[in-house]
Amino acid sequence: MRSLFLLMLLLGCSHQVRIVAPTAVEPRVAHESKARNEMVTTQGDATTRAALSLFNKGGNIIDAFVAASFAISVERPHSTGIGGGGFLIYYSKEENKVYAFDFREIAPLASSSKMYLNKKGEPQPLLSQEGALAVANPGLVKGLFDIHQRFGKLPWKETVLPAIKLAREGFPLYEQLYEAIDDRKKILLHDPEAKKTFFTKEGKVPLLGTIIYQENLAKTLEIIADQGSDGFYRGSVADAIIKTIKQKRGILSHRDLKSYKMVERTPVTGIYKGLKIYSMPPPSSGGIHVIQILKMLEPYNMKQMGPQSADAVHLTAHAMQRAFLDRASYLGDPDFHPVPVNELLNEGYLTKLSETINAPKAIKASDLKPVPLPYESSDTTHFTIADREGNMIASTQTINGWFGSGVMAQGTGIVLNNEMDDFAQKIGVQNLFGAVGGQNNLVSPRKRPLSSMSPTIITKDDKPFMALGSPSGTRIITCVAQTILNAVEFEMPLYEAVAATRIHQQWQPDILKVEAPFLAPEVEQELKERGHNVVHERLGCSIQAIKKDKAGWHGVSDPRGTGLALGIN
Ligand code: GLY
Repeated sequence: MRSLFLLMLLLGCSHQVRIVAPTAVEPRVAHESKARNEMVTTQGDATTRAALSLFNKGGNIIDAFVAASFAISVERPHSTGIGGGGFLIYYSKEENKVYAFDFREIAPLASSSKMYLNKKGEPQPLLSQEGALAVANPGLVKGLFDIHQRFGKLPWKETVLPAIKLAREGFPLYEQLYEAIDDRKKILLHDPEAKKTFFTKEGKVPLLGTIIYQENLAKTLEIIADQGSDGFYRGSVADAIIKTIKQKRGILSHRDLKSYKMVERTPVTGIYKGLKIYSMPPPSSGGIHVIQILKMLEPYNMKQMGPQSADAVHLTAHAMQRAFLDRASYLGDPDFHPVPVNELLNEGYLTKLSETINAPKAIKASDLKPVPLPYESSDTTHFTIADREGNMIASTQTINGWFGSGVMAQGTGIVLNNEMDDFAQKIGVQNLFGAVGGQNNLVSPRKRPLSSMSPTIITKDDKPFMALGSPSGTRIITCVAQTILNAVEFEMPLYEAVAATRIHQQWQPDILKVEAPFLAPEVEQELKERGHNVVHERLGCSIQAIKKDKAGWHGVSDPRGTGLALGIN
C-alpha cells in the first residue's frame, strides 16, 4: 500500500523525482496520532517534539506555538525562519474568542512601485526573487515576542531553547531540504554564509543523512533568548543584517528593523454546514477564498455526487475559479486599499456566485472578466496545535520561495526572505511565472504583500471542532477548502480527508491541476469532455490538521511530505 502511494506521488511530480516520505516508519504511523490532552502536527519531527516539550514543562499553547516557530525555523530553513514572517489564528477556549495576528513582512521604507522596473519601464522578475532587493522587513521575531508577552506562561527563554539545541546539535539532511539546496545552489553558493552552512567544503550538496549544523543560527537564537525581539531588530544581529544588505545593494535599513510592528486583526468568518469557520483576513487572501469556495459548494448535494466524481470535481473547480477571480480583482493590504471583505463574504453575493458554477461545460478563464492576478511562490510551512483546555492554534509562516532571497545575514545563520515577490512588479504585466499583477498589490513603503496563507480554525456550537492549514502559495486556499469539504461534506475520517486526491484551479492559468493519487481515468476523461484542461501536477501542499473526536484530538500531518503528528495522553 505504502509503495503504491509513493509511486502515485512520483507520477504526480512535475519537476523532480524525489518525493519525501518518512523513511524509517510507515507514513501513517508518523503522520497520524490520537491523544486525550495535547496534539501537535508540524512539518518537522524535531519541531513537533519541541512543542510537546513545552507542554511537558508546564507551558501553555502559546509557549508551544513559539517553541514550534523557532524550531521549524531551524528544521526547515528553506521554507521559513526568523528572516521571514507569518500569521497566527488562536482560539482561546476560556474566552470563546478567536484572535488573528499578522506578523507578515513589510516593504522597506525606501521601496517604490517602480523599484523592479528598468529604465524602459520593463519588469525585472529576478530582482524581487533573488538577492538583497528581494528582502522585505521580517516580522516573525517581533510577532512571536509580542504574542508571548501577552499570552505566554513560561519564561520567553524556555521557548527558544529547543531551537538553539537543534541548531547546535544538528539533524540529518532529509530529502526535501536536499532538494531545496540543490534547486537553489546557484544563488546559495554565491553567499559565503549559505555556502558554509549548507554545502560541503568542496561546494557540493551534502549526502542525504549528513548532519546539518547551524552554529551561527544557534548563537543568534541565544541573543534573542536573552534580549527578546530587541536581540533581532537592534544590536549586533541587526547590524549584521543591514551590513549584508548594504554590501549586496539592498534597501532595508536600521529604521525599517526598529519600526516593525505586528498587527492584531479581526478574523474573517463564515457559517458552513452549521460550523463556524475563522480564518486569516487580508493581507492574506486565504481566509476569504476558503470560505467563498465552501459557501459556493454548500447548496449542492456534493455527498450524493461522491468525492472525486466528475460532477463534484467540475463544481469544485468552478468554485475555485470564481474565488480566484475575486482575489485578483479586490485583494491587497487593507492598510493601503479598502478590501470589501463583508461584500465578498455576503450571503446574497455568494448565493449568486454559487448559481454560476453549475454550467454544464468548463468555464474558460477568458469568458470571465479578465482582471490582474498576483503571483506567489510555493514554499512556506504550517503547524497546528491543540491542548487539554480546548485551545487551538493554526499558524502559517514563510520566507516565501525556497531559501527566500538566497541571502544570509553574514555571521548570523539567518536566511532572509524574498517576500517582495508576493507584490506585483507592474500592473498587467506577466512576471516570470506567467501571472500578472494588480493595482492593490503594487509595492509601497511599509505595505504588506498579498498572501494566500490560510490558517483556519473551525468551531461547532462554540466548541473546538477542527484546526488546519498548509504551505504552498495559492494552492493553500484550495487545499484547505478541499480538506474541510472532505471532512465535513463527505464525512471522511481525518487521515483520508487529508490524503485524498486534490485538485487546483486558479482562474489563470486556465488549467485544472490534479495531484496524485489521480482521479479515476474515466472521471478525468469526462472532465476533459466537459472542457477542463486537466494536467497532472504536484501541488506542494502539506496539510497539518487536528480535529476533535470523542476521546480527544485526532492529528494528521500530510503523508505527502515530512512531518509528525504526536500527542500527549
Ligand atoms: N509567500 C506565500 C504567501 O504568503 O502566500
